[in-house]
Formats: sequence, C-alpha cells, structure tokens
Amino acid sequence: MTAQRRLGIVTLVIMLGLAAWSWRILRQGASDESSVRQTPTARAPASNLPKALAVHTQARGPIPADPTNRFADDARAVALGERLFLDESFSASGTVSCATCHDPDRAFTDGQRVARGEGMGTRNTPTILGAARRRWFTWDGRADTIWSQAAEPIEQPTEHAFDRTRFAVAIRDDPGVRRLWEAACGALPAALDAVPKGLAARPALADGGEGDAMAQSWAQLSAEQRAAIDLVFSASMKALGAFQRTLDMPLSAFDRWADAVGQGTVSMDDETAGGIITPAARRGWLLFAGKANCIQCHGGREFTDGEFHNLGLPGPDGRLGGDPGRRGAIARLKTDPFSSAGVFSDDPDGAEARLVRSLKDDPETWGQFRTPSLRGVALTAPYMHDGRFATLPEVIAFYDTLEGAIALDHHREAVLQPLGLTAPERDDLEAFLRALSPERLPGVLESAR
Ligand code: HEC
Ligand code: HEC
Repeated sequence: MTAQRRLGIVTLVIMLGLAAWSWRILRQGASDESSVRQTPTARAPASNLPKALAVHTQARGPIPADPTNRFADDARAVALGERLFLDESFSASGTVSCATCHDPDRAFTDGQRVARGEGMGTRNTPTILGAARRRWFTWDGRADTIWSQAAEPIEQPTEHAFDRTRFAVAIRDDPGVRRLWEAACGALPAALDAVPKGLAARPALADGGEGDAMAQSWAQLSAEQRAAIDLVFSASMKALGAFQRTLDMPLSAFDRWADAVGQGTVSMDDETAGGIITPAARRGWLLFAGKANCIQCHGGREFTDGEFHNLGLPGPDGRLGGDPGRRGAIARLKTDPFSSAGVFSDDPDGAEARLVRSLKDDPETWGQFRTPSLRGVALTAPYMHDGRFATLPEVIAFYDTLEGAIALDHHREAVLQPLGLTAPERDDLEAFLRALSPERLPGVLESAR
C-alpha cells in the first residue's frame, strides 16, 4: 500500500466517522427536544412548566402580616424580643433560654433527638427560621400564632420551668430589660409594683395535676396584679413573636435554579441544571415531584401543605401509639387564652380567630403531625416529631420501604406506598433535599449576645 492510498483510507474512515456522529446528533435533536431547548435563547414561559415547578418560579411573598400582634413589625419590639430570646434568667435554673434549644449557631435547632431544657421533652426542636410563615405552630398545631407559641415553653416544666409572675417581676427589676420593654410596650402597669420578688405564680397548666403550688399562689394574687402580670407577659410574648418574624429561612440554590428555568435562561431539561444545582439534585427534584410524589404533602413554595398527616410511624413499643399528635391539640387551642381568638389577641374577631373557632376536634386526627417545611432540612437533623431518624438517608429509606410503618385502617388516610427506589435514586432525593439549604444563614444577634 502506498503512503498516498493509506492516507486516503484514513481520511475516508475519519469522514465516515464524522458523518455517523453528526447523523446521531441530528437524530437526537429530532427525537429529543431537550437538545434544542437547552439553548440559552429558548425561552420557556412559566405557564408551560409543570405546576409543581411553576410555583417555585413565582416571587416568594413576604412573611404574612399578623393582626393578632400589635407589635408584630415594630423595631423596638424586635429589639426587646431578641433580648428576651437570649436571656437565661427566665428559667428555673437560670441556664435555659429560647436559644438553648433554638441555637442560632445550629440553624435555630439543638441537634438533639428530643429537646432538653429544665427536663427532658418528648419532641424534636424545630427551627425558628421561616416559622412565622406557618399557619399552625408546633408539631401538633396547638398554637396558631408565633407569639402565642412562646407562652408555653416559659411555663413548661421540661423547658424553662418558669412562670409569668417571676417573668414580669424580672423585667420590672432589670433596668436594661425594663428600658427595652417600656420603649416597645409603654410604661409597666403600676399594679406590678407590689408583687413580691421571687413569688412563683401562674394559672394551672393544661395538663397540670393536684397540689400545684404555683397555681395556688396565682389564685392568691389580686385581680389587678394578675391582669398586670398577664399584660406584661403577653406583650413580651408579642415582642418574642416580632423578633422571630425577622428570622426568615433564606432561599436556596434550588430557588435560583427554578428562577433561571422560569426566566428561560436554563432549560428545565438541561441535565446539568445550568451548573446551579447538581445533576443529582435536579434528578432528585424530578423524583420528589414525580414518582416519589413527596409534593403531595411537601408541595408549594415552602415545601409543606401546612396540614397534618399520620405517616404510621410506630410508637416506642412498635405499635401505633405514644404521641397522640394533633388529637387533643385542637381542644387545647380552642381554650388557649393566648390564641388569636383569646383575650390577649389584638384581632379576636379576625379571620384567624374565626378559623380557630370553627375547628372541630376529631378523633381521626389521632397520630397526625404537621408536615414540616423542607427548607434548610439538611441543617436540622435529627428528623420527625420525635427525632427518630438521625440522617436524611434514614428518612428517605423510611419513605422508600415503609419498613416498620403501621398499616393504617381504611378510614384513616393511607397515602404512603413503598416507593421501591434504586440506590442512586435515593442519593438523588438526598441531593435535592440538600439543595434546599439556605445559601447563607441570617447572621444573628452579635449585638445582643
Ligand atoms: C427545651 C428546649 C426548648 C426551649 C427552651 C424552647 N423551645 Fe421552642 N420548641 C421546642 C420544641 C421541642 C418545639 C416543638 C414542640 C412541640 O411540637 O410540641 C418547639 C417549638 C417552637 C416553635 C414552633 C415552631 C414551628 O415550626 O411550629 C416556636 C416558634 C418556638 N418553639 C419558639 C420558642 C421560644 C420563643 C422560646 C423561648 C421563650 C422557646 N421556643 C424555647 C424546644 C424548645
Ligand atoms: C402524606 C404526606 C407526606 C408525604 C407523601 C411525604 N411526607 Fe415527608 N413528612 C410528612 C409529615 C407529616 C412529616 C412529619 C412526621 C412526623 O414527625 O411524625 C414529614 C417529615 C419529613 C421529613 C423530616 C423533616 C424534619 O424536619 O424532621 C423529611 C426529610 C421528609 N418528610 C421528606 C419527605 C420526602 C423526601 C418525601 C417523598 C419521598 C415525603 N417526605 C413524603 C408528610 C409527608
């Protein structure tokens, strides 16, 4: 073979290869529109996107107004609330503050399975970030406003184990806090002056038993003193609420990707997700919104339907039991003086209050818990109302196999089905959940610490 012929054959082979290659590209282009839509100029109007994704291309609204709290957006109340949030003197031992469990350095959680304050609790500490966006508070929804939620931990024996009387007197007697309080809420009521320092007094707790010394002391205070204490206590809770309203859960890389898709700068079908989130996170989103159908409950802008569901998680004895969840929470909410419909509300006849009055206590709610938002979920381990799962892969394994779950009888919702995911699919779901982490956490409280 001459050198010339050899060159000719090589050239032919190369040309054939090139032709075959371009043919494949062309065919791919025809059969799979993705390669066309991937061009940055192709604009995908948000209306053509699947609904699950379209939701995330809309601007995220601000934290909703709270007419039940007249201090909700007052900067002076925020300053007072921040101070109260960090103050350990409002606890039986003088060592527990809200930040003990809602630690700003841990995305406002504690990293514990269940909360530990003055005693051991039974529930996992949720984050405060973005909490003001919720309609119901705590895992069972027994509070309906973020400010009223704060009243309970102060007097809970396992949390602050404190009482509203010592709380109000501490504000009266600490010149620094008192100055903040009076700037935000006006002069302290005069009837507080004669309340003895150190007197521990509060109404009987919802689940309180006999021989409650603090409840007996409360009954011995005059009506004016009780009213003054309640006023200081409830206004302080509203200041705590105002502060917590400033702690939103920031947006994530996922939101940036959804934005880019909504604006047509990145195609929804671009497997690289424009480099904004990882390919695995994008695949995880498709599973989340598709085959795994997590959006059935974790749908919407905040990845929660805001409602209560029973996942059939077994109690400590392996049977459905232990924590009744939503069951009972409604009755407590309806009689809570701190609810939006209660005497301390600044909007006792508003929409929120009417909603509370219309709630029906239904035995079917037994074992239901609030669907948590999944924003920032990678930062808030462990998981579920009782912190039973230490890691995200454990949570995903539960949904995948429903191993250990109790089959719920027919009149309860039976929405969860085992998913049968492959190992890479589980990893993709996890990558998606991680893409919901805020890109920066609110820098907190250096001034107040
Ligand atoms: C001992 C730990 C502990 C302390 C102290 C504590 N919390 Fe909590 N917090 C929890 C736990 C646990 C829950 C969930 C309770 C439940 O579901 O029953 C919770 C729930 C909340 C929620 C509801 C969040 C949501 O998403 O529904 C808010 C708001 C909150 N706490 C604010 C406060 C404030 C304000 C203080 C201080 C006055 C405080 N907490 C003190 C452990 C604590
Ligand atoms: C039927 C409604 C429903 C569906 C479907 C659902 N979840 Fe949940 N999810 C919940 C509820 C309710 C909880 C809280 C349960 C509890 O604490 O007992 C929860 C808790 C979680 C948690 C723990 C969050 C935390 O802060 O502790 C994660 C993570 C989670 N779900 C992810 C998923 C994923 C991923 C899917 C899809 C595979 C999914 N969920 C499907 C309702 C649902």
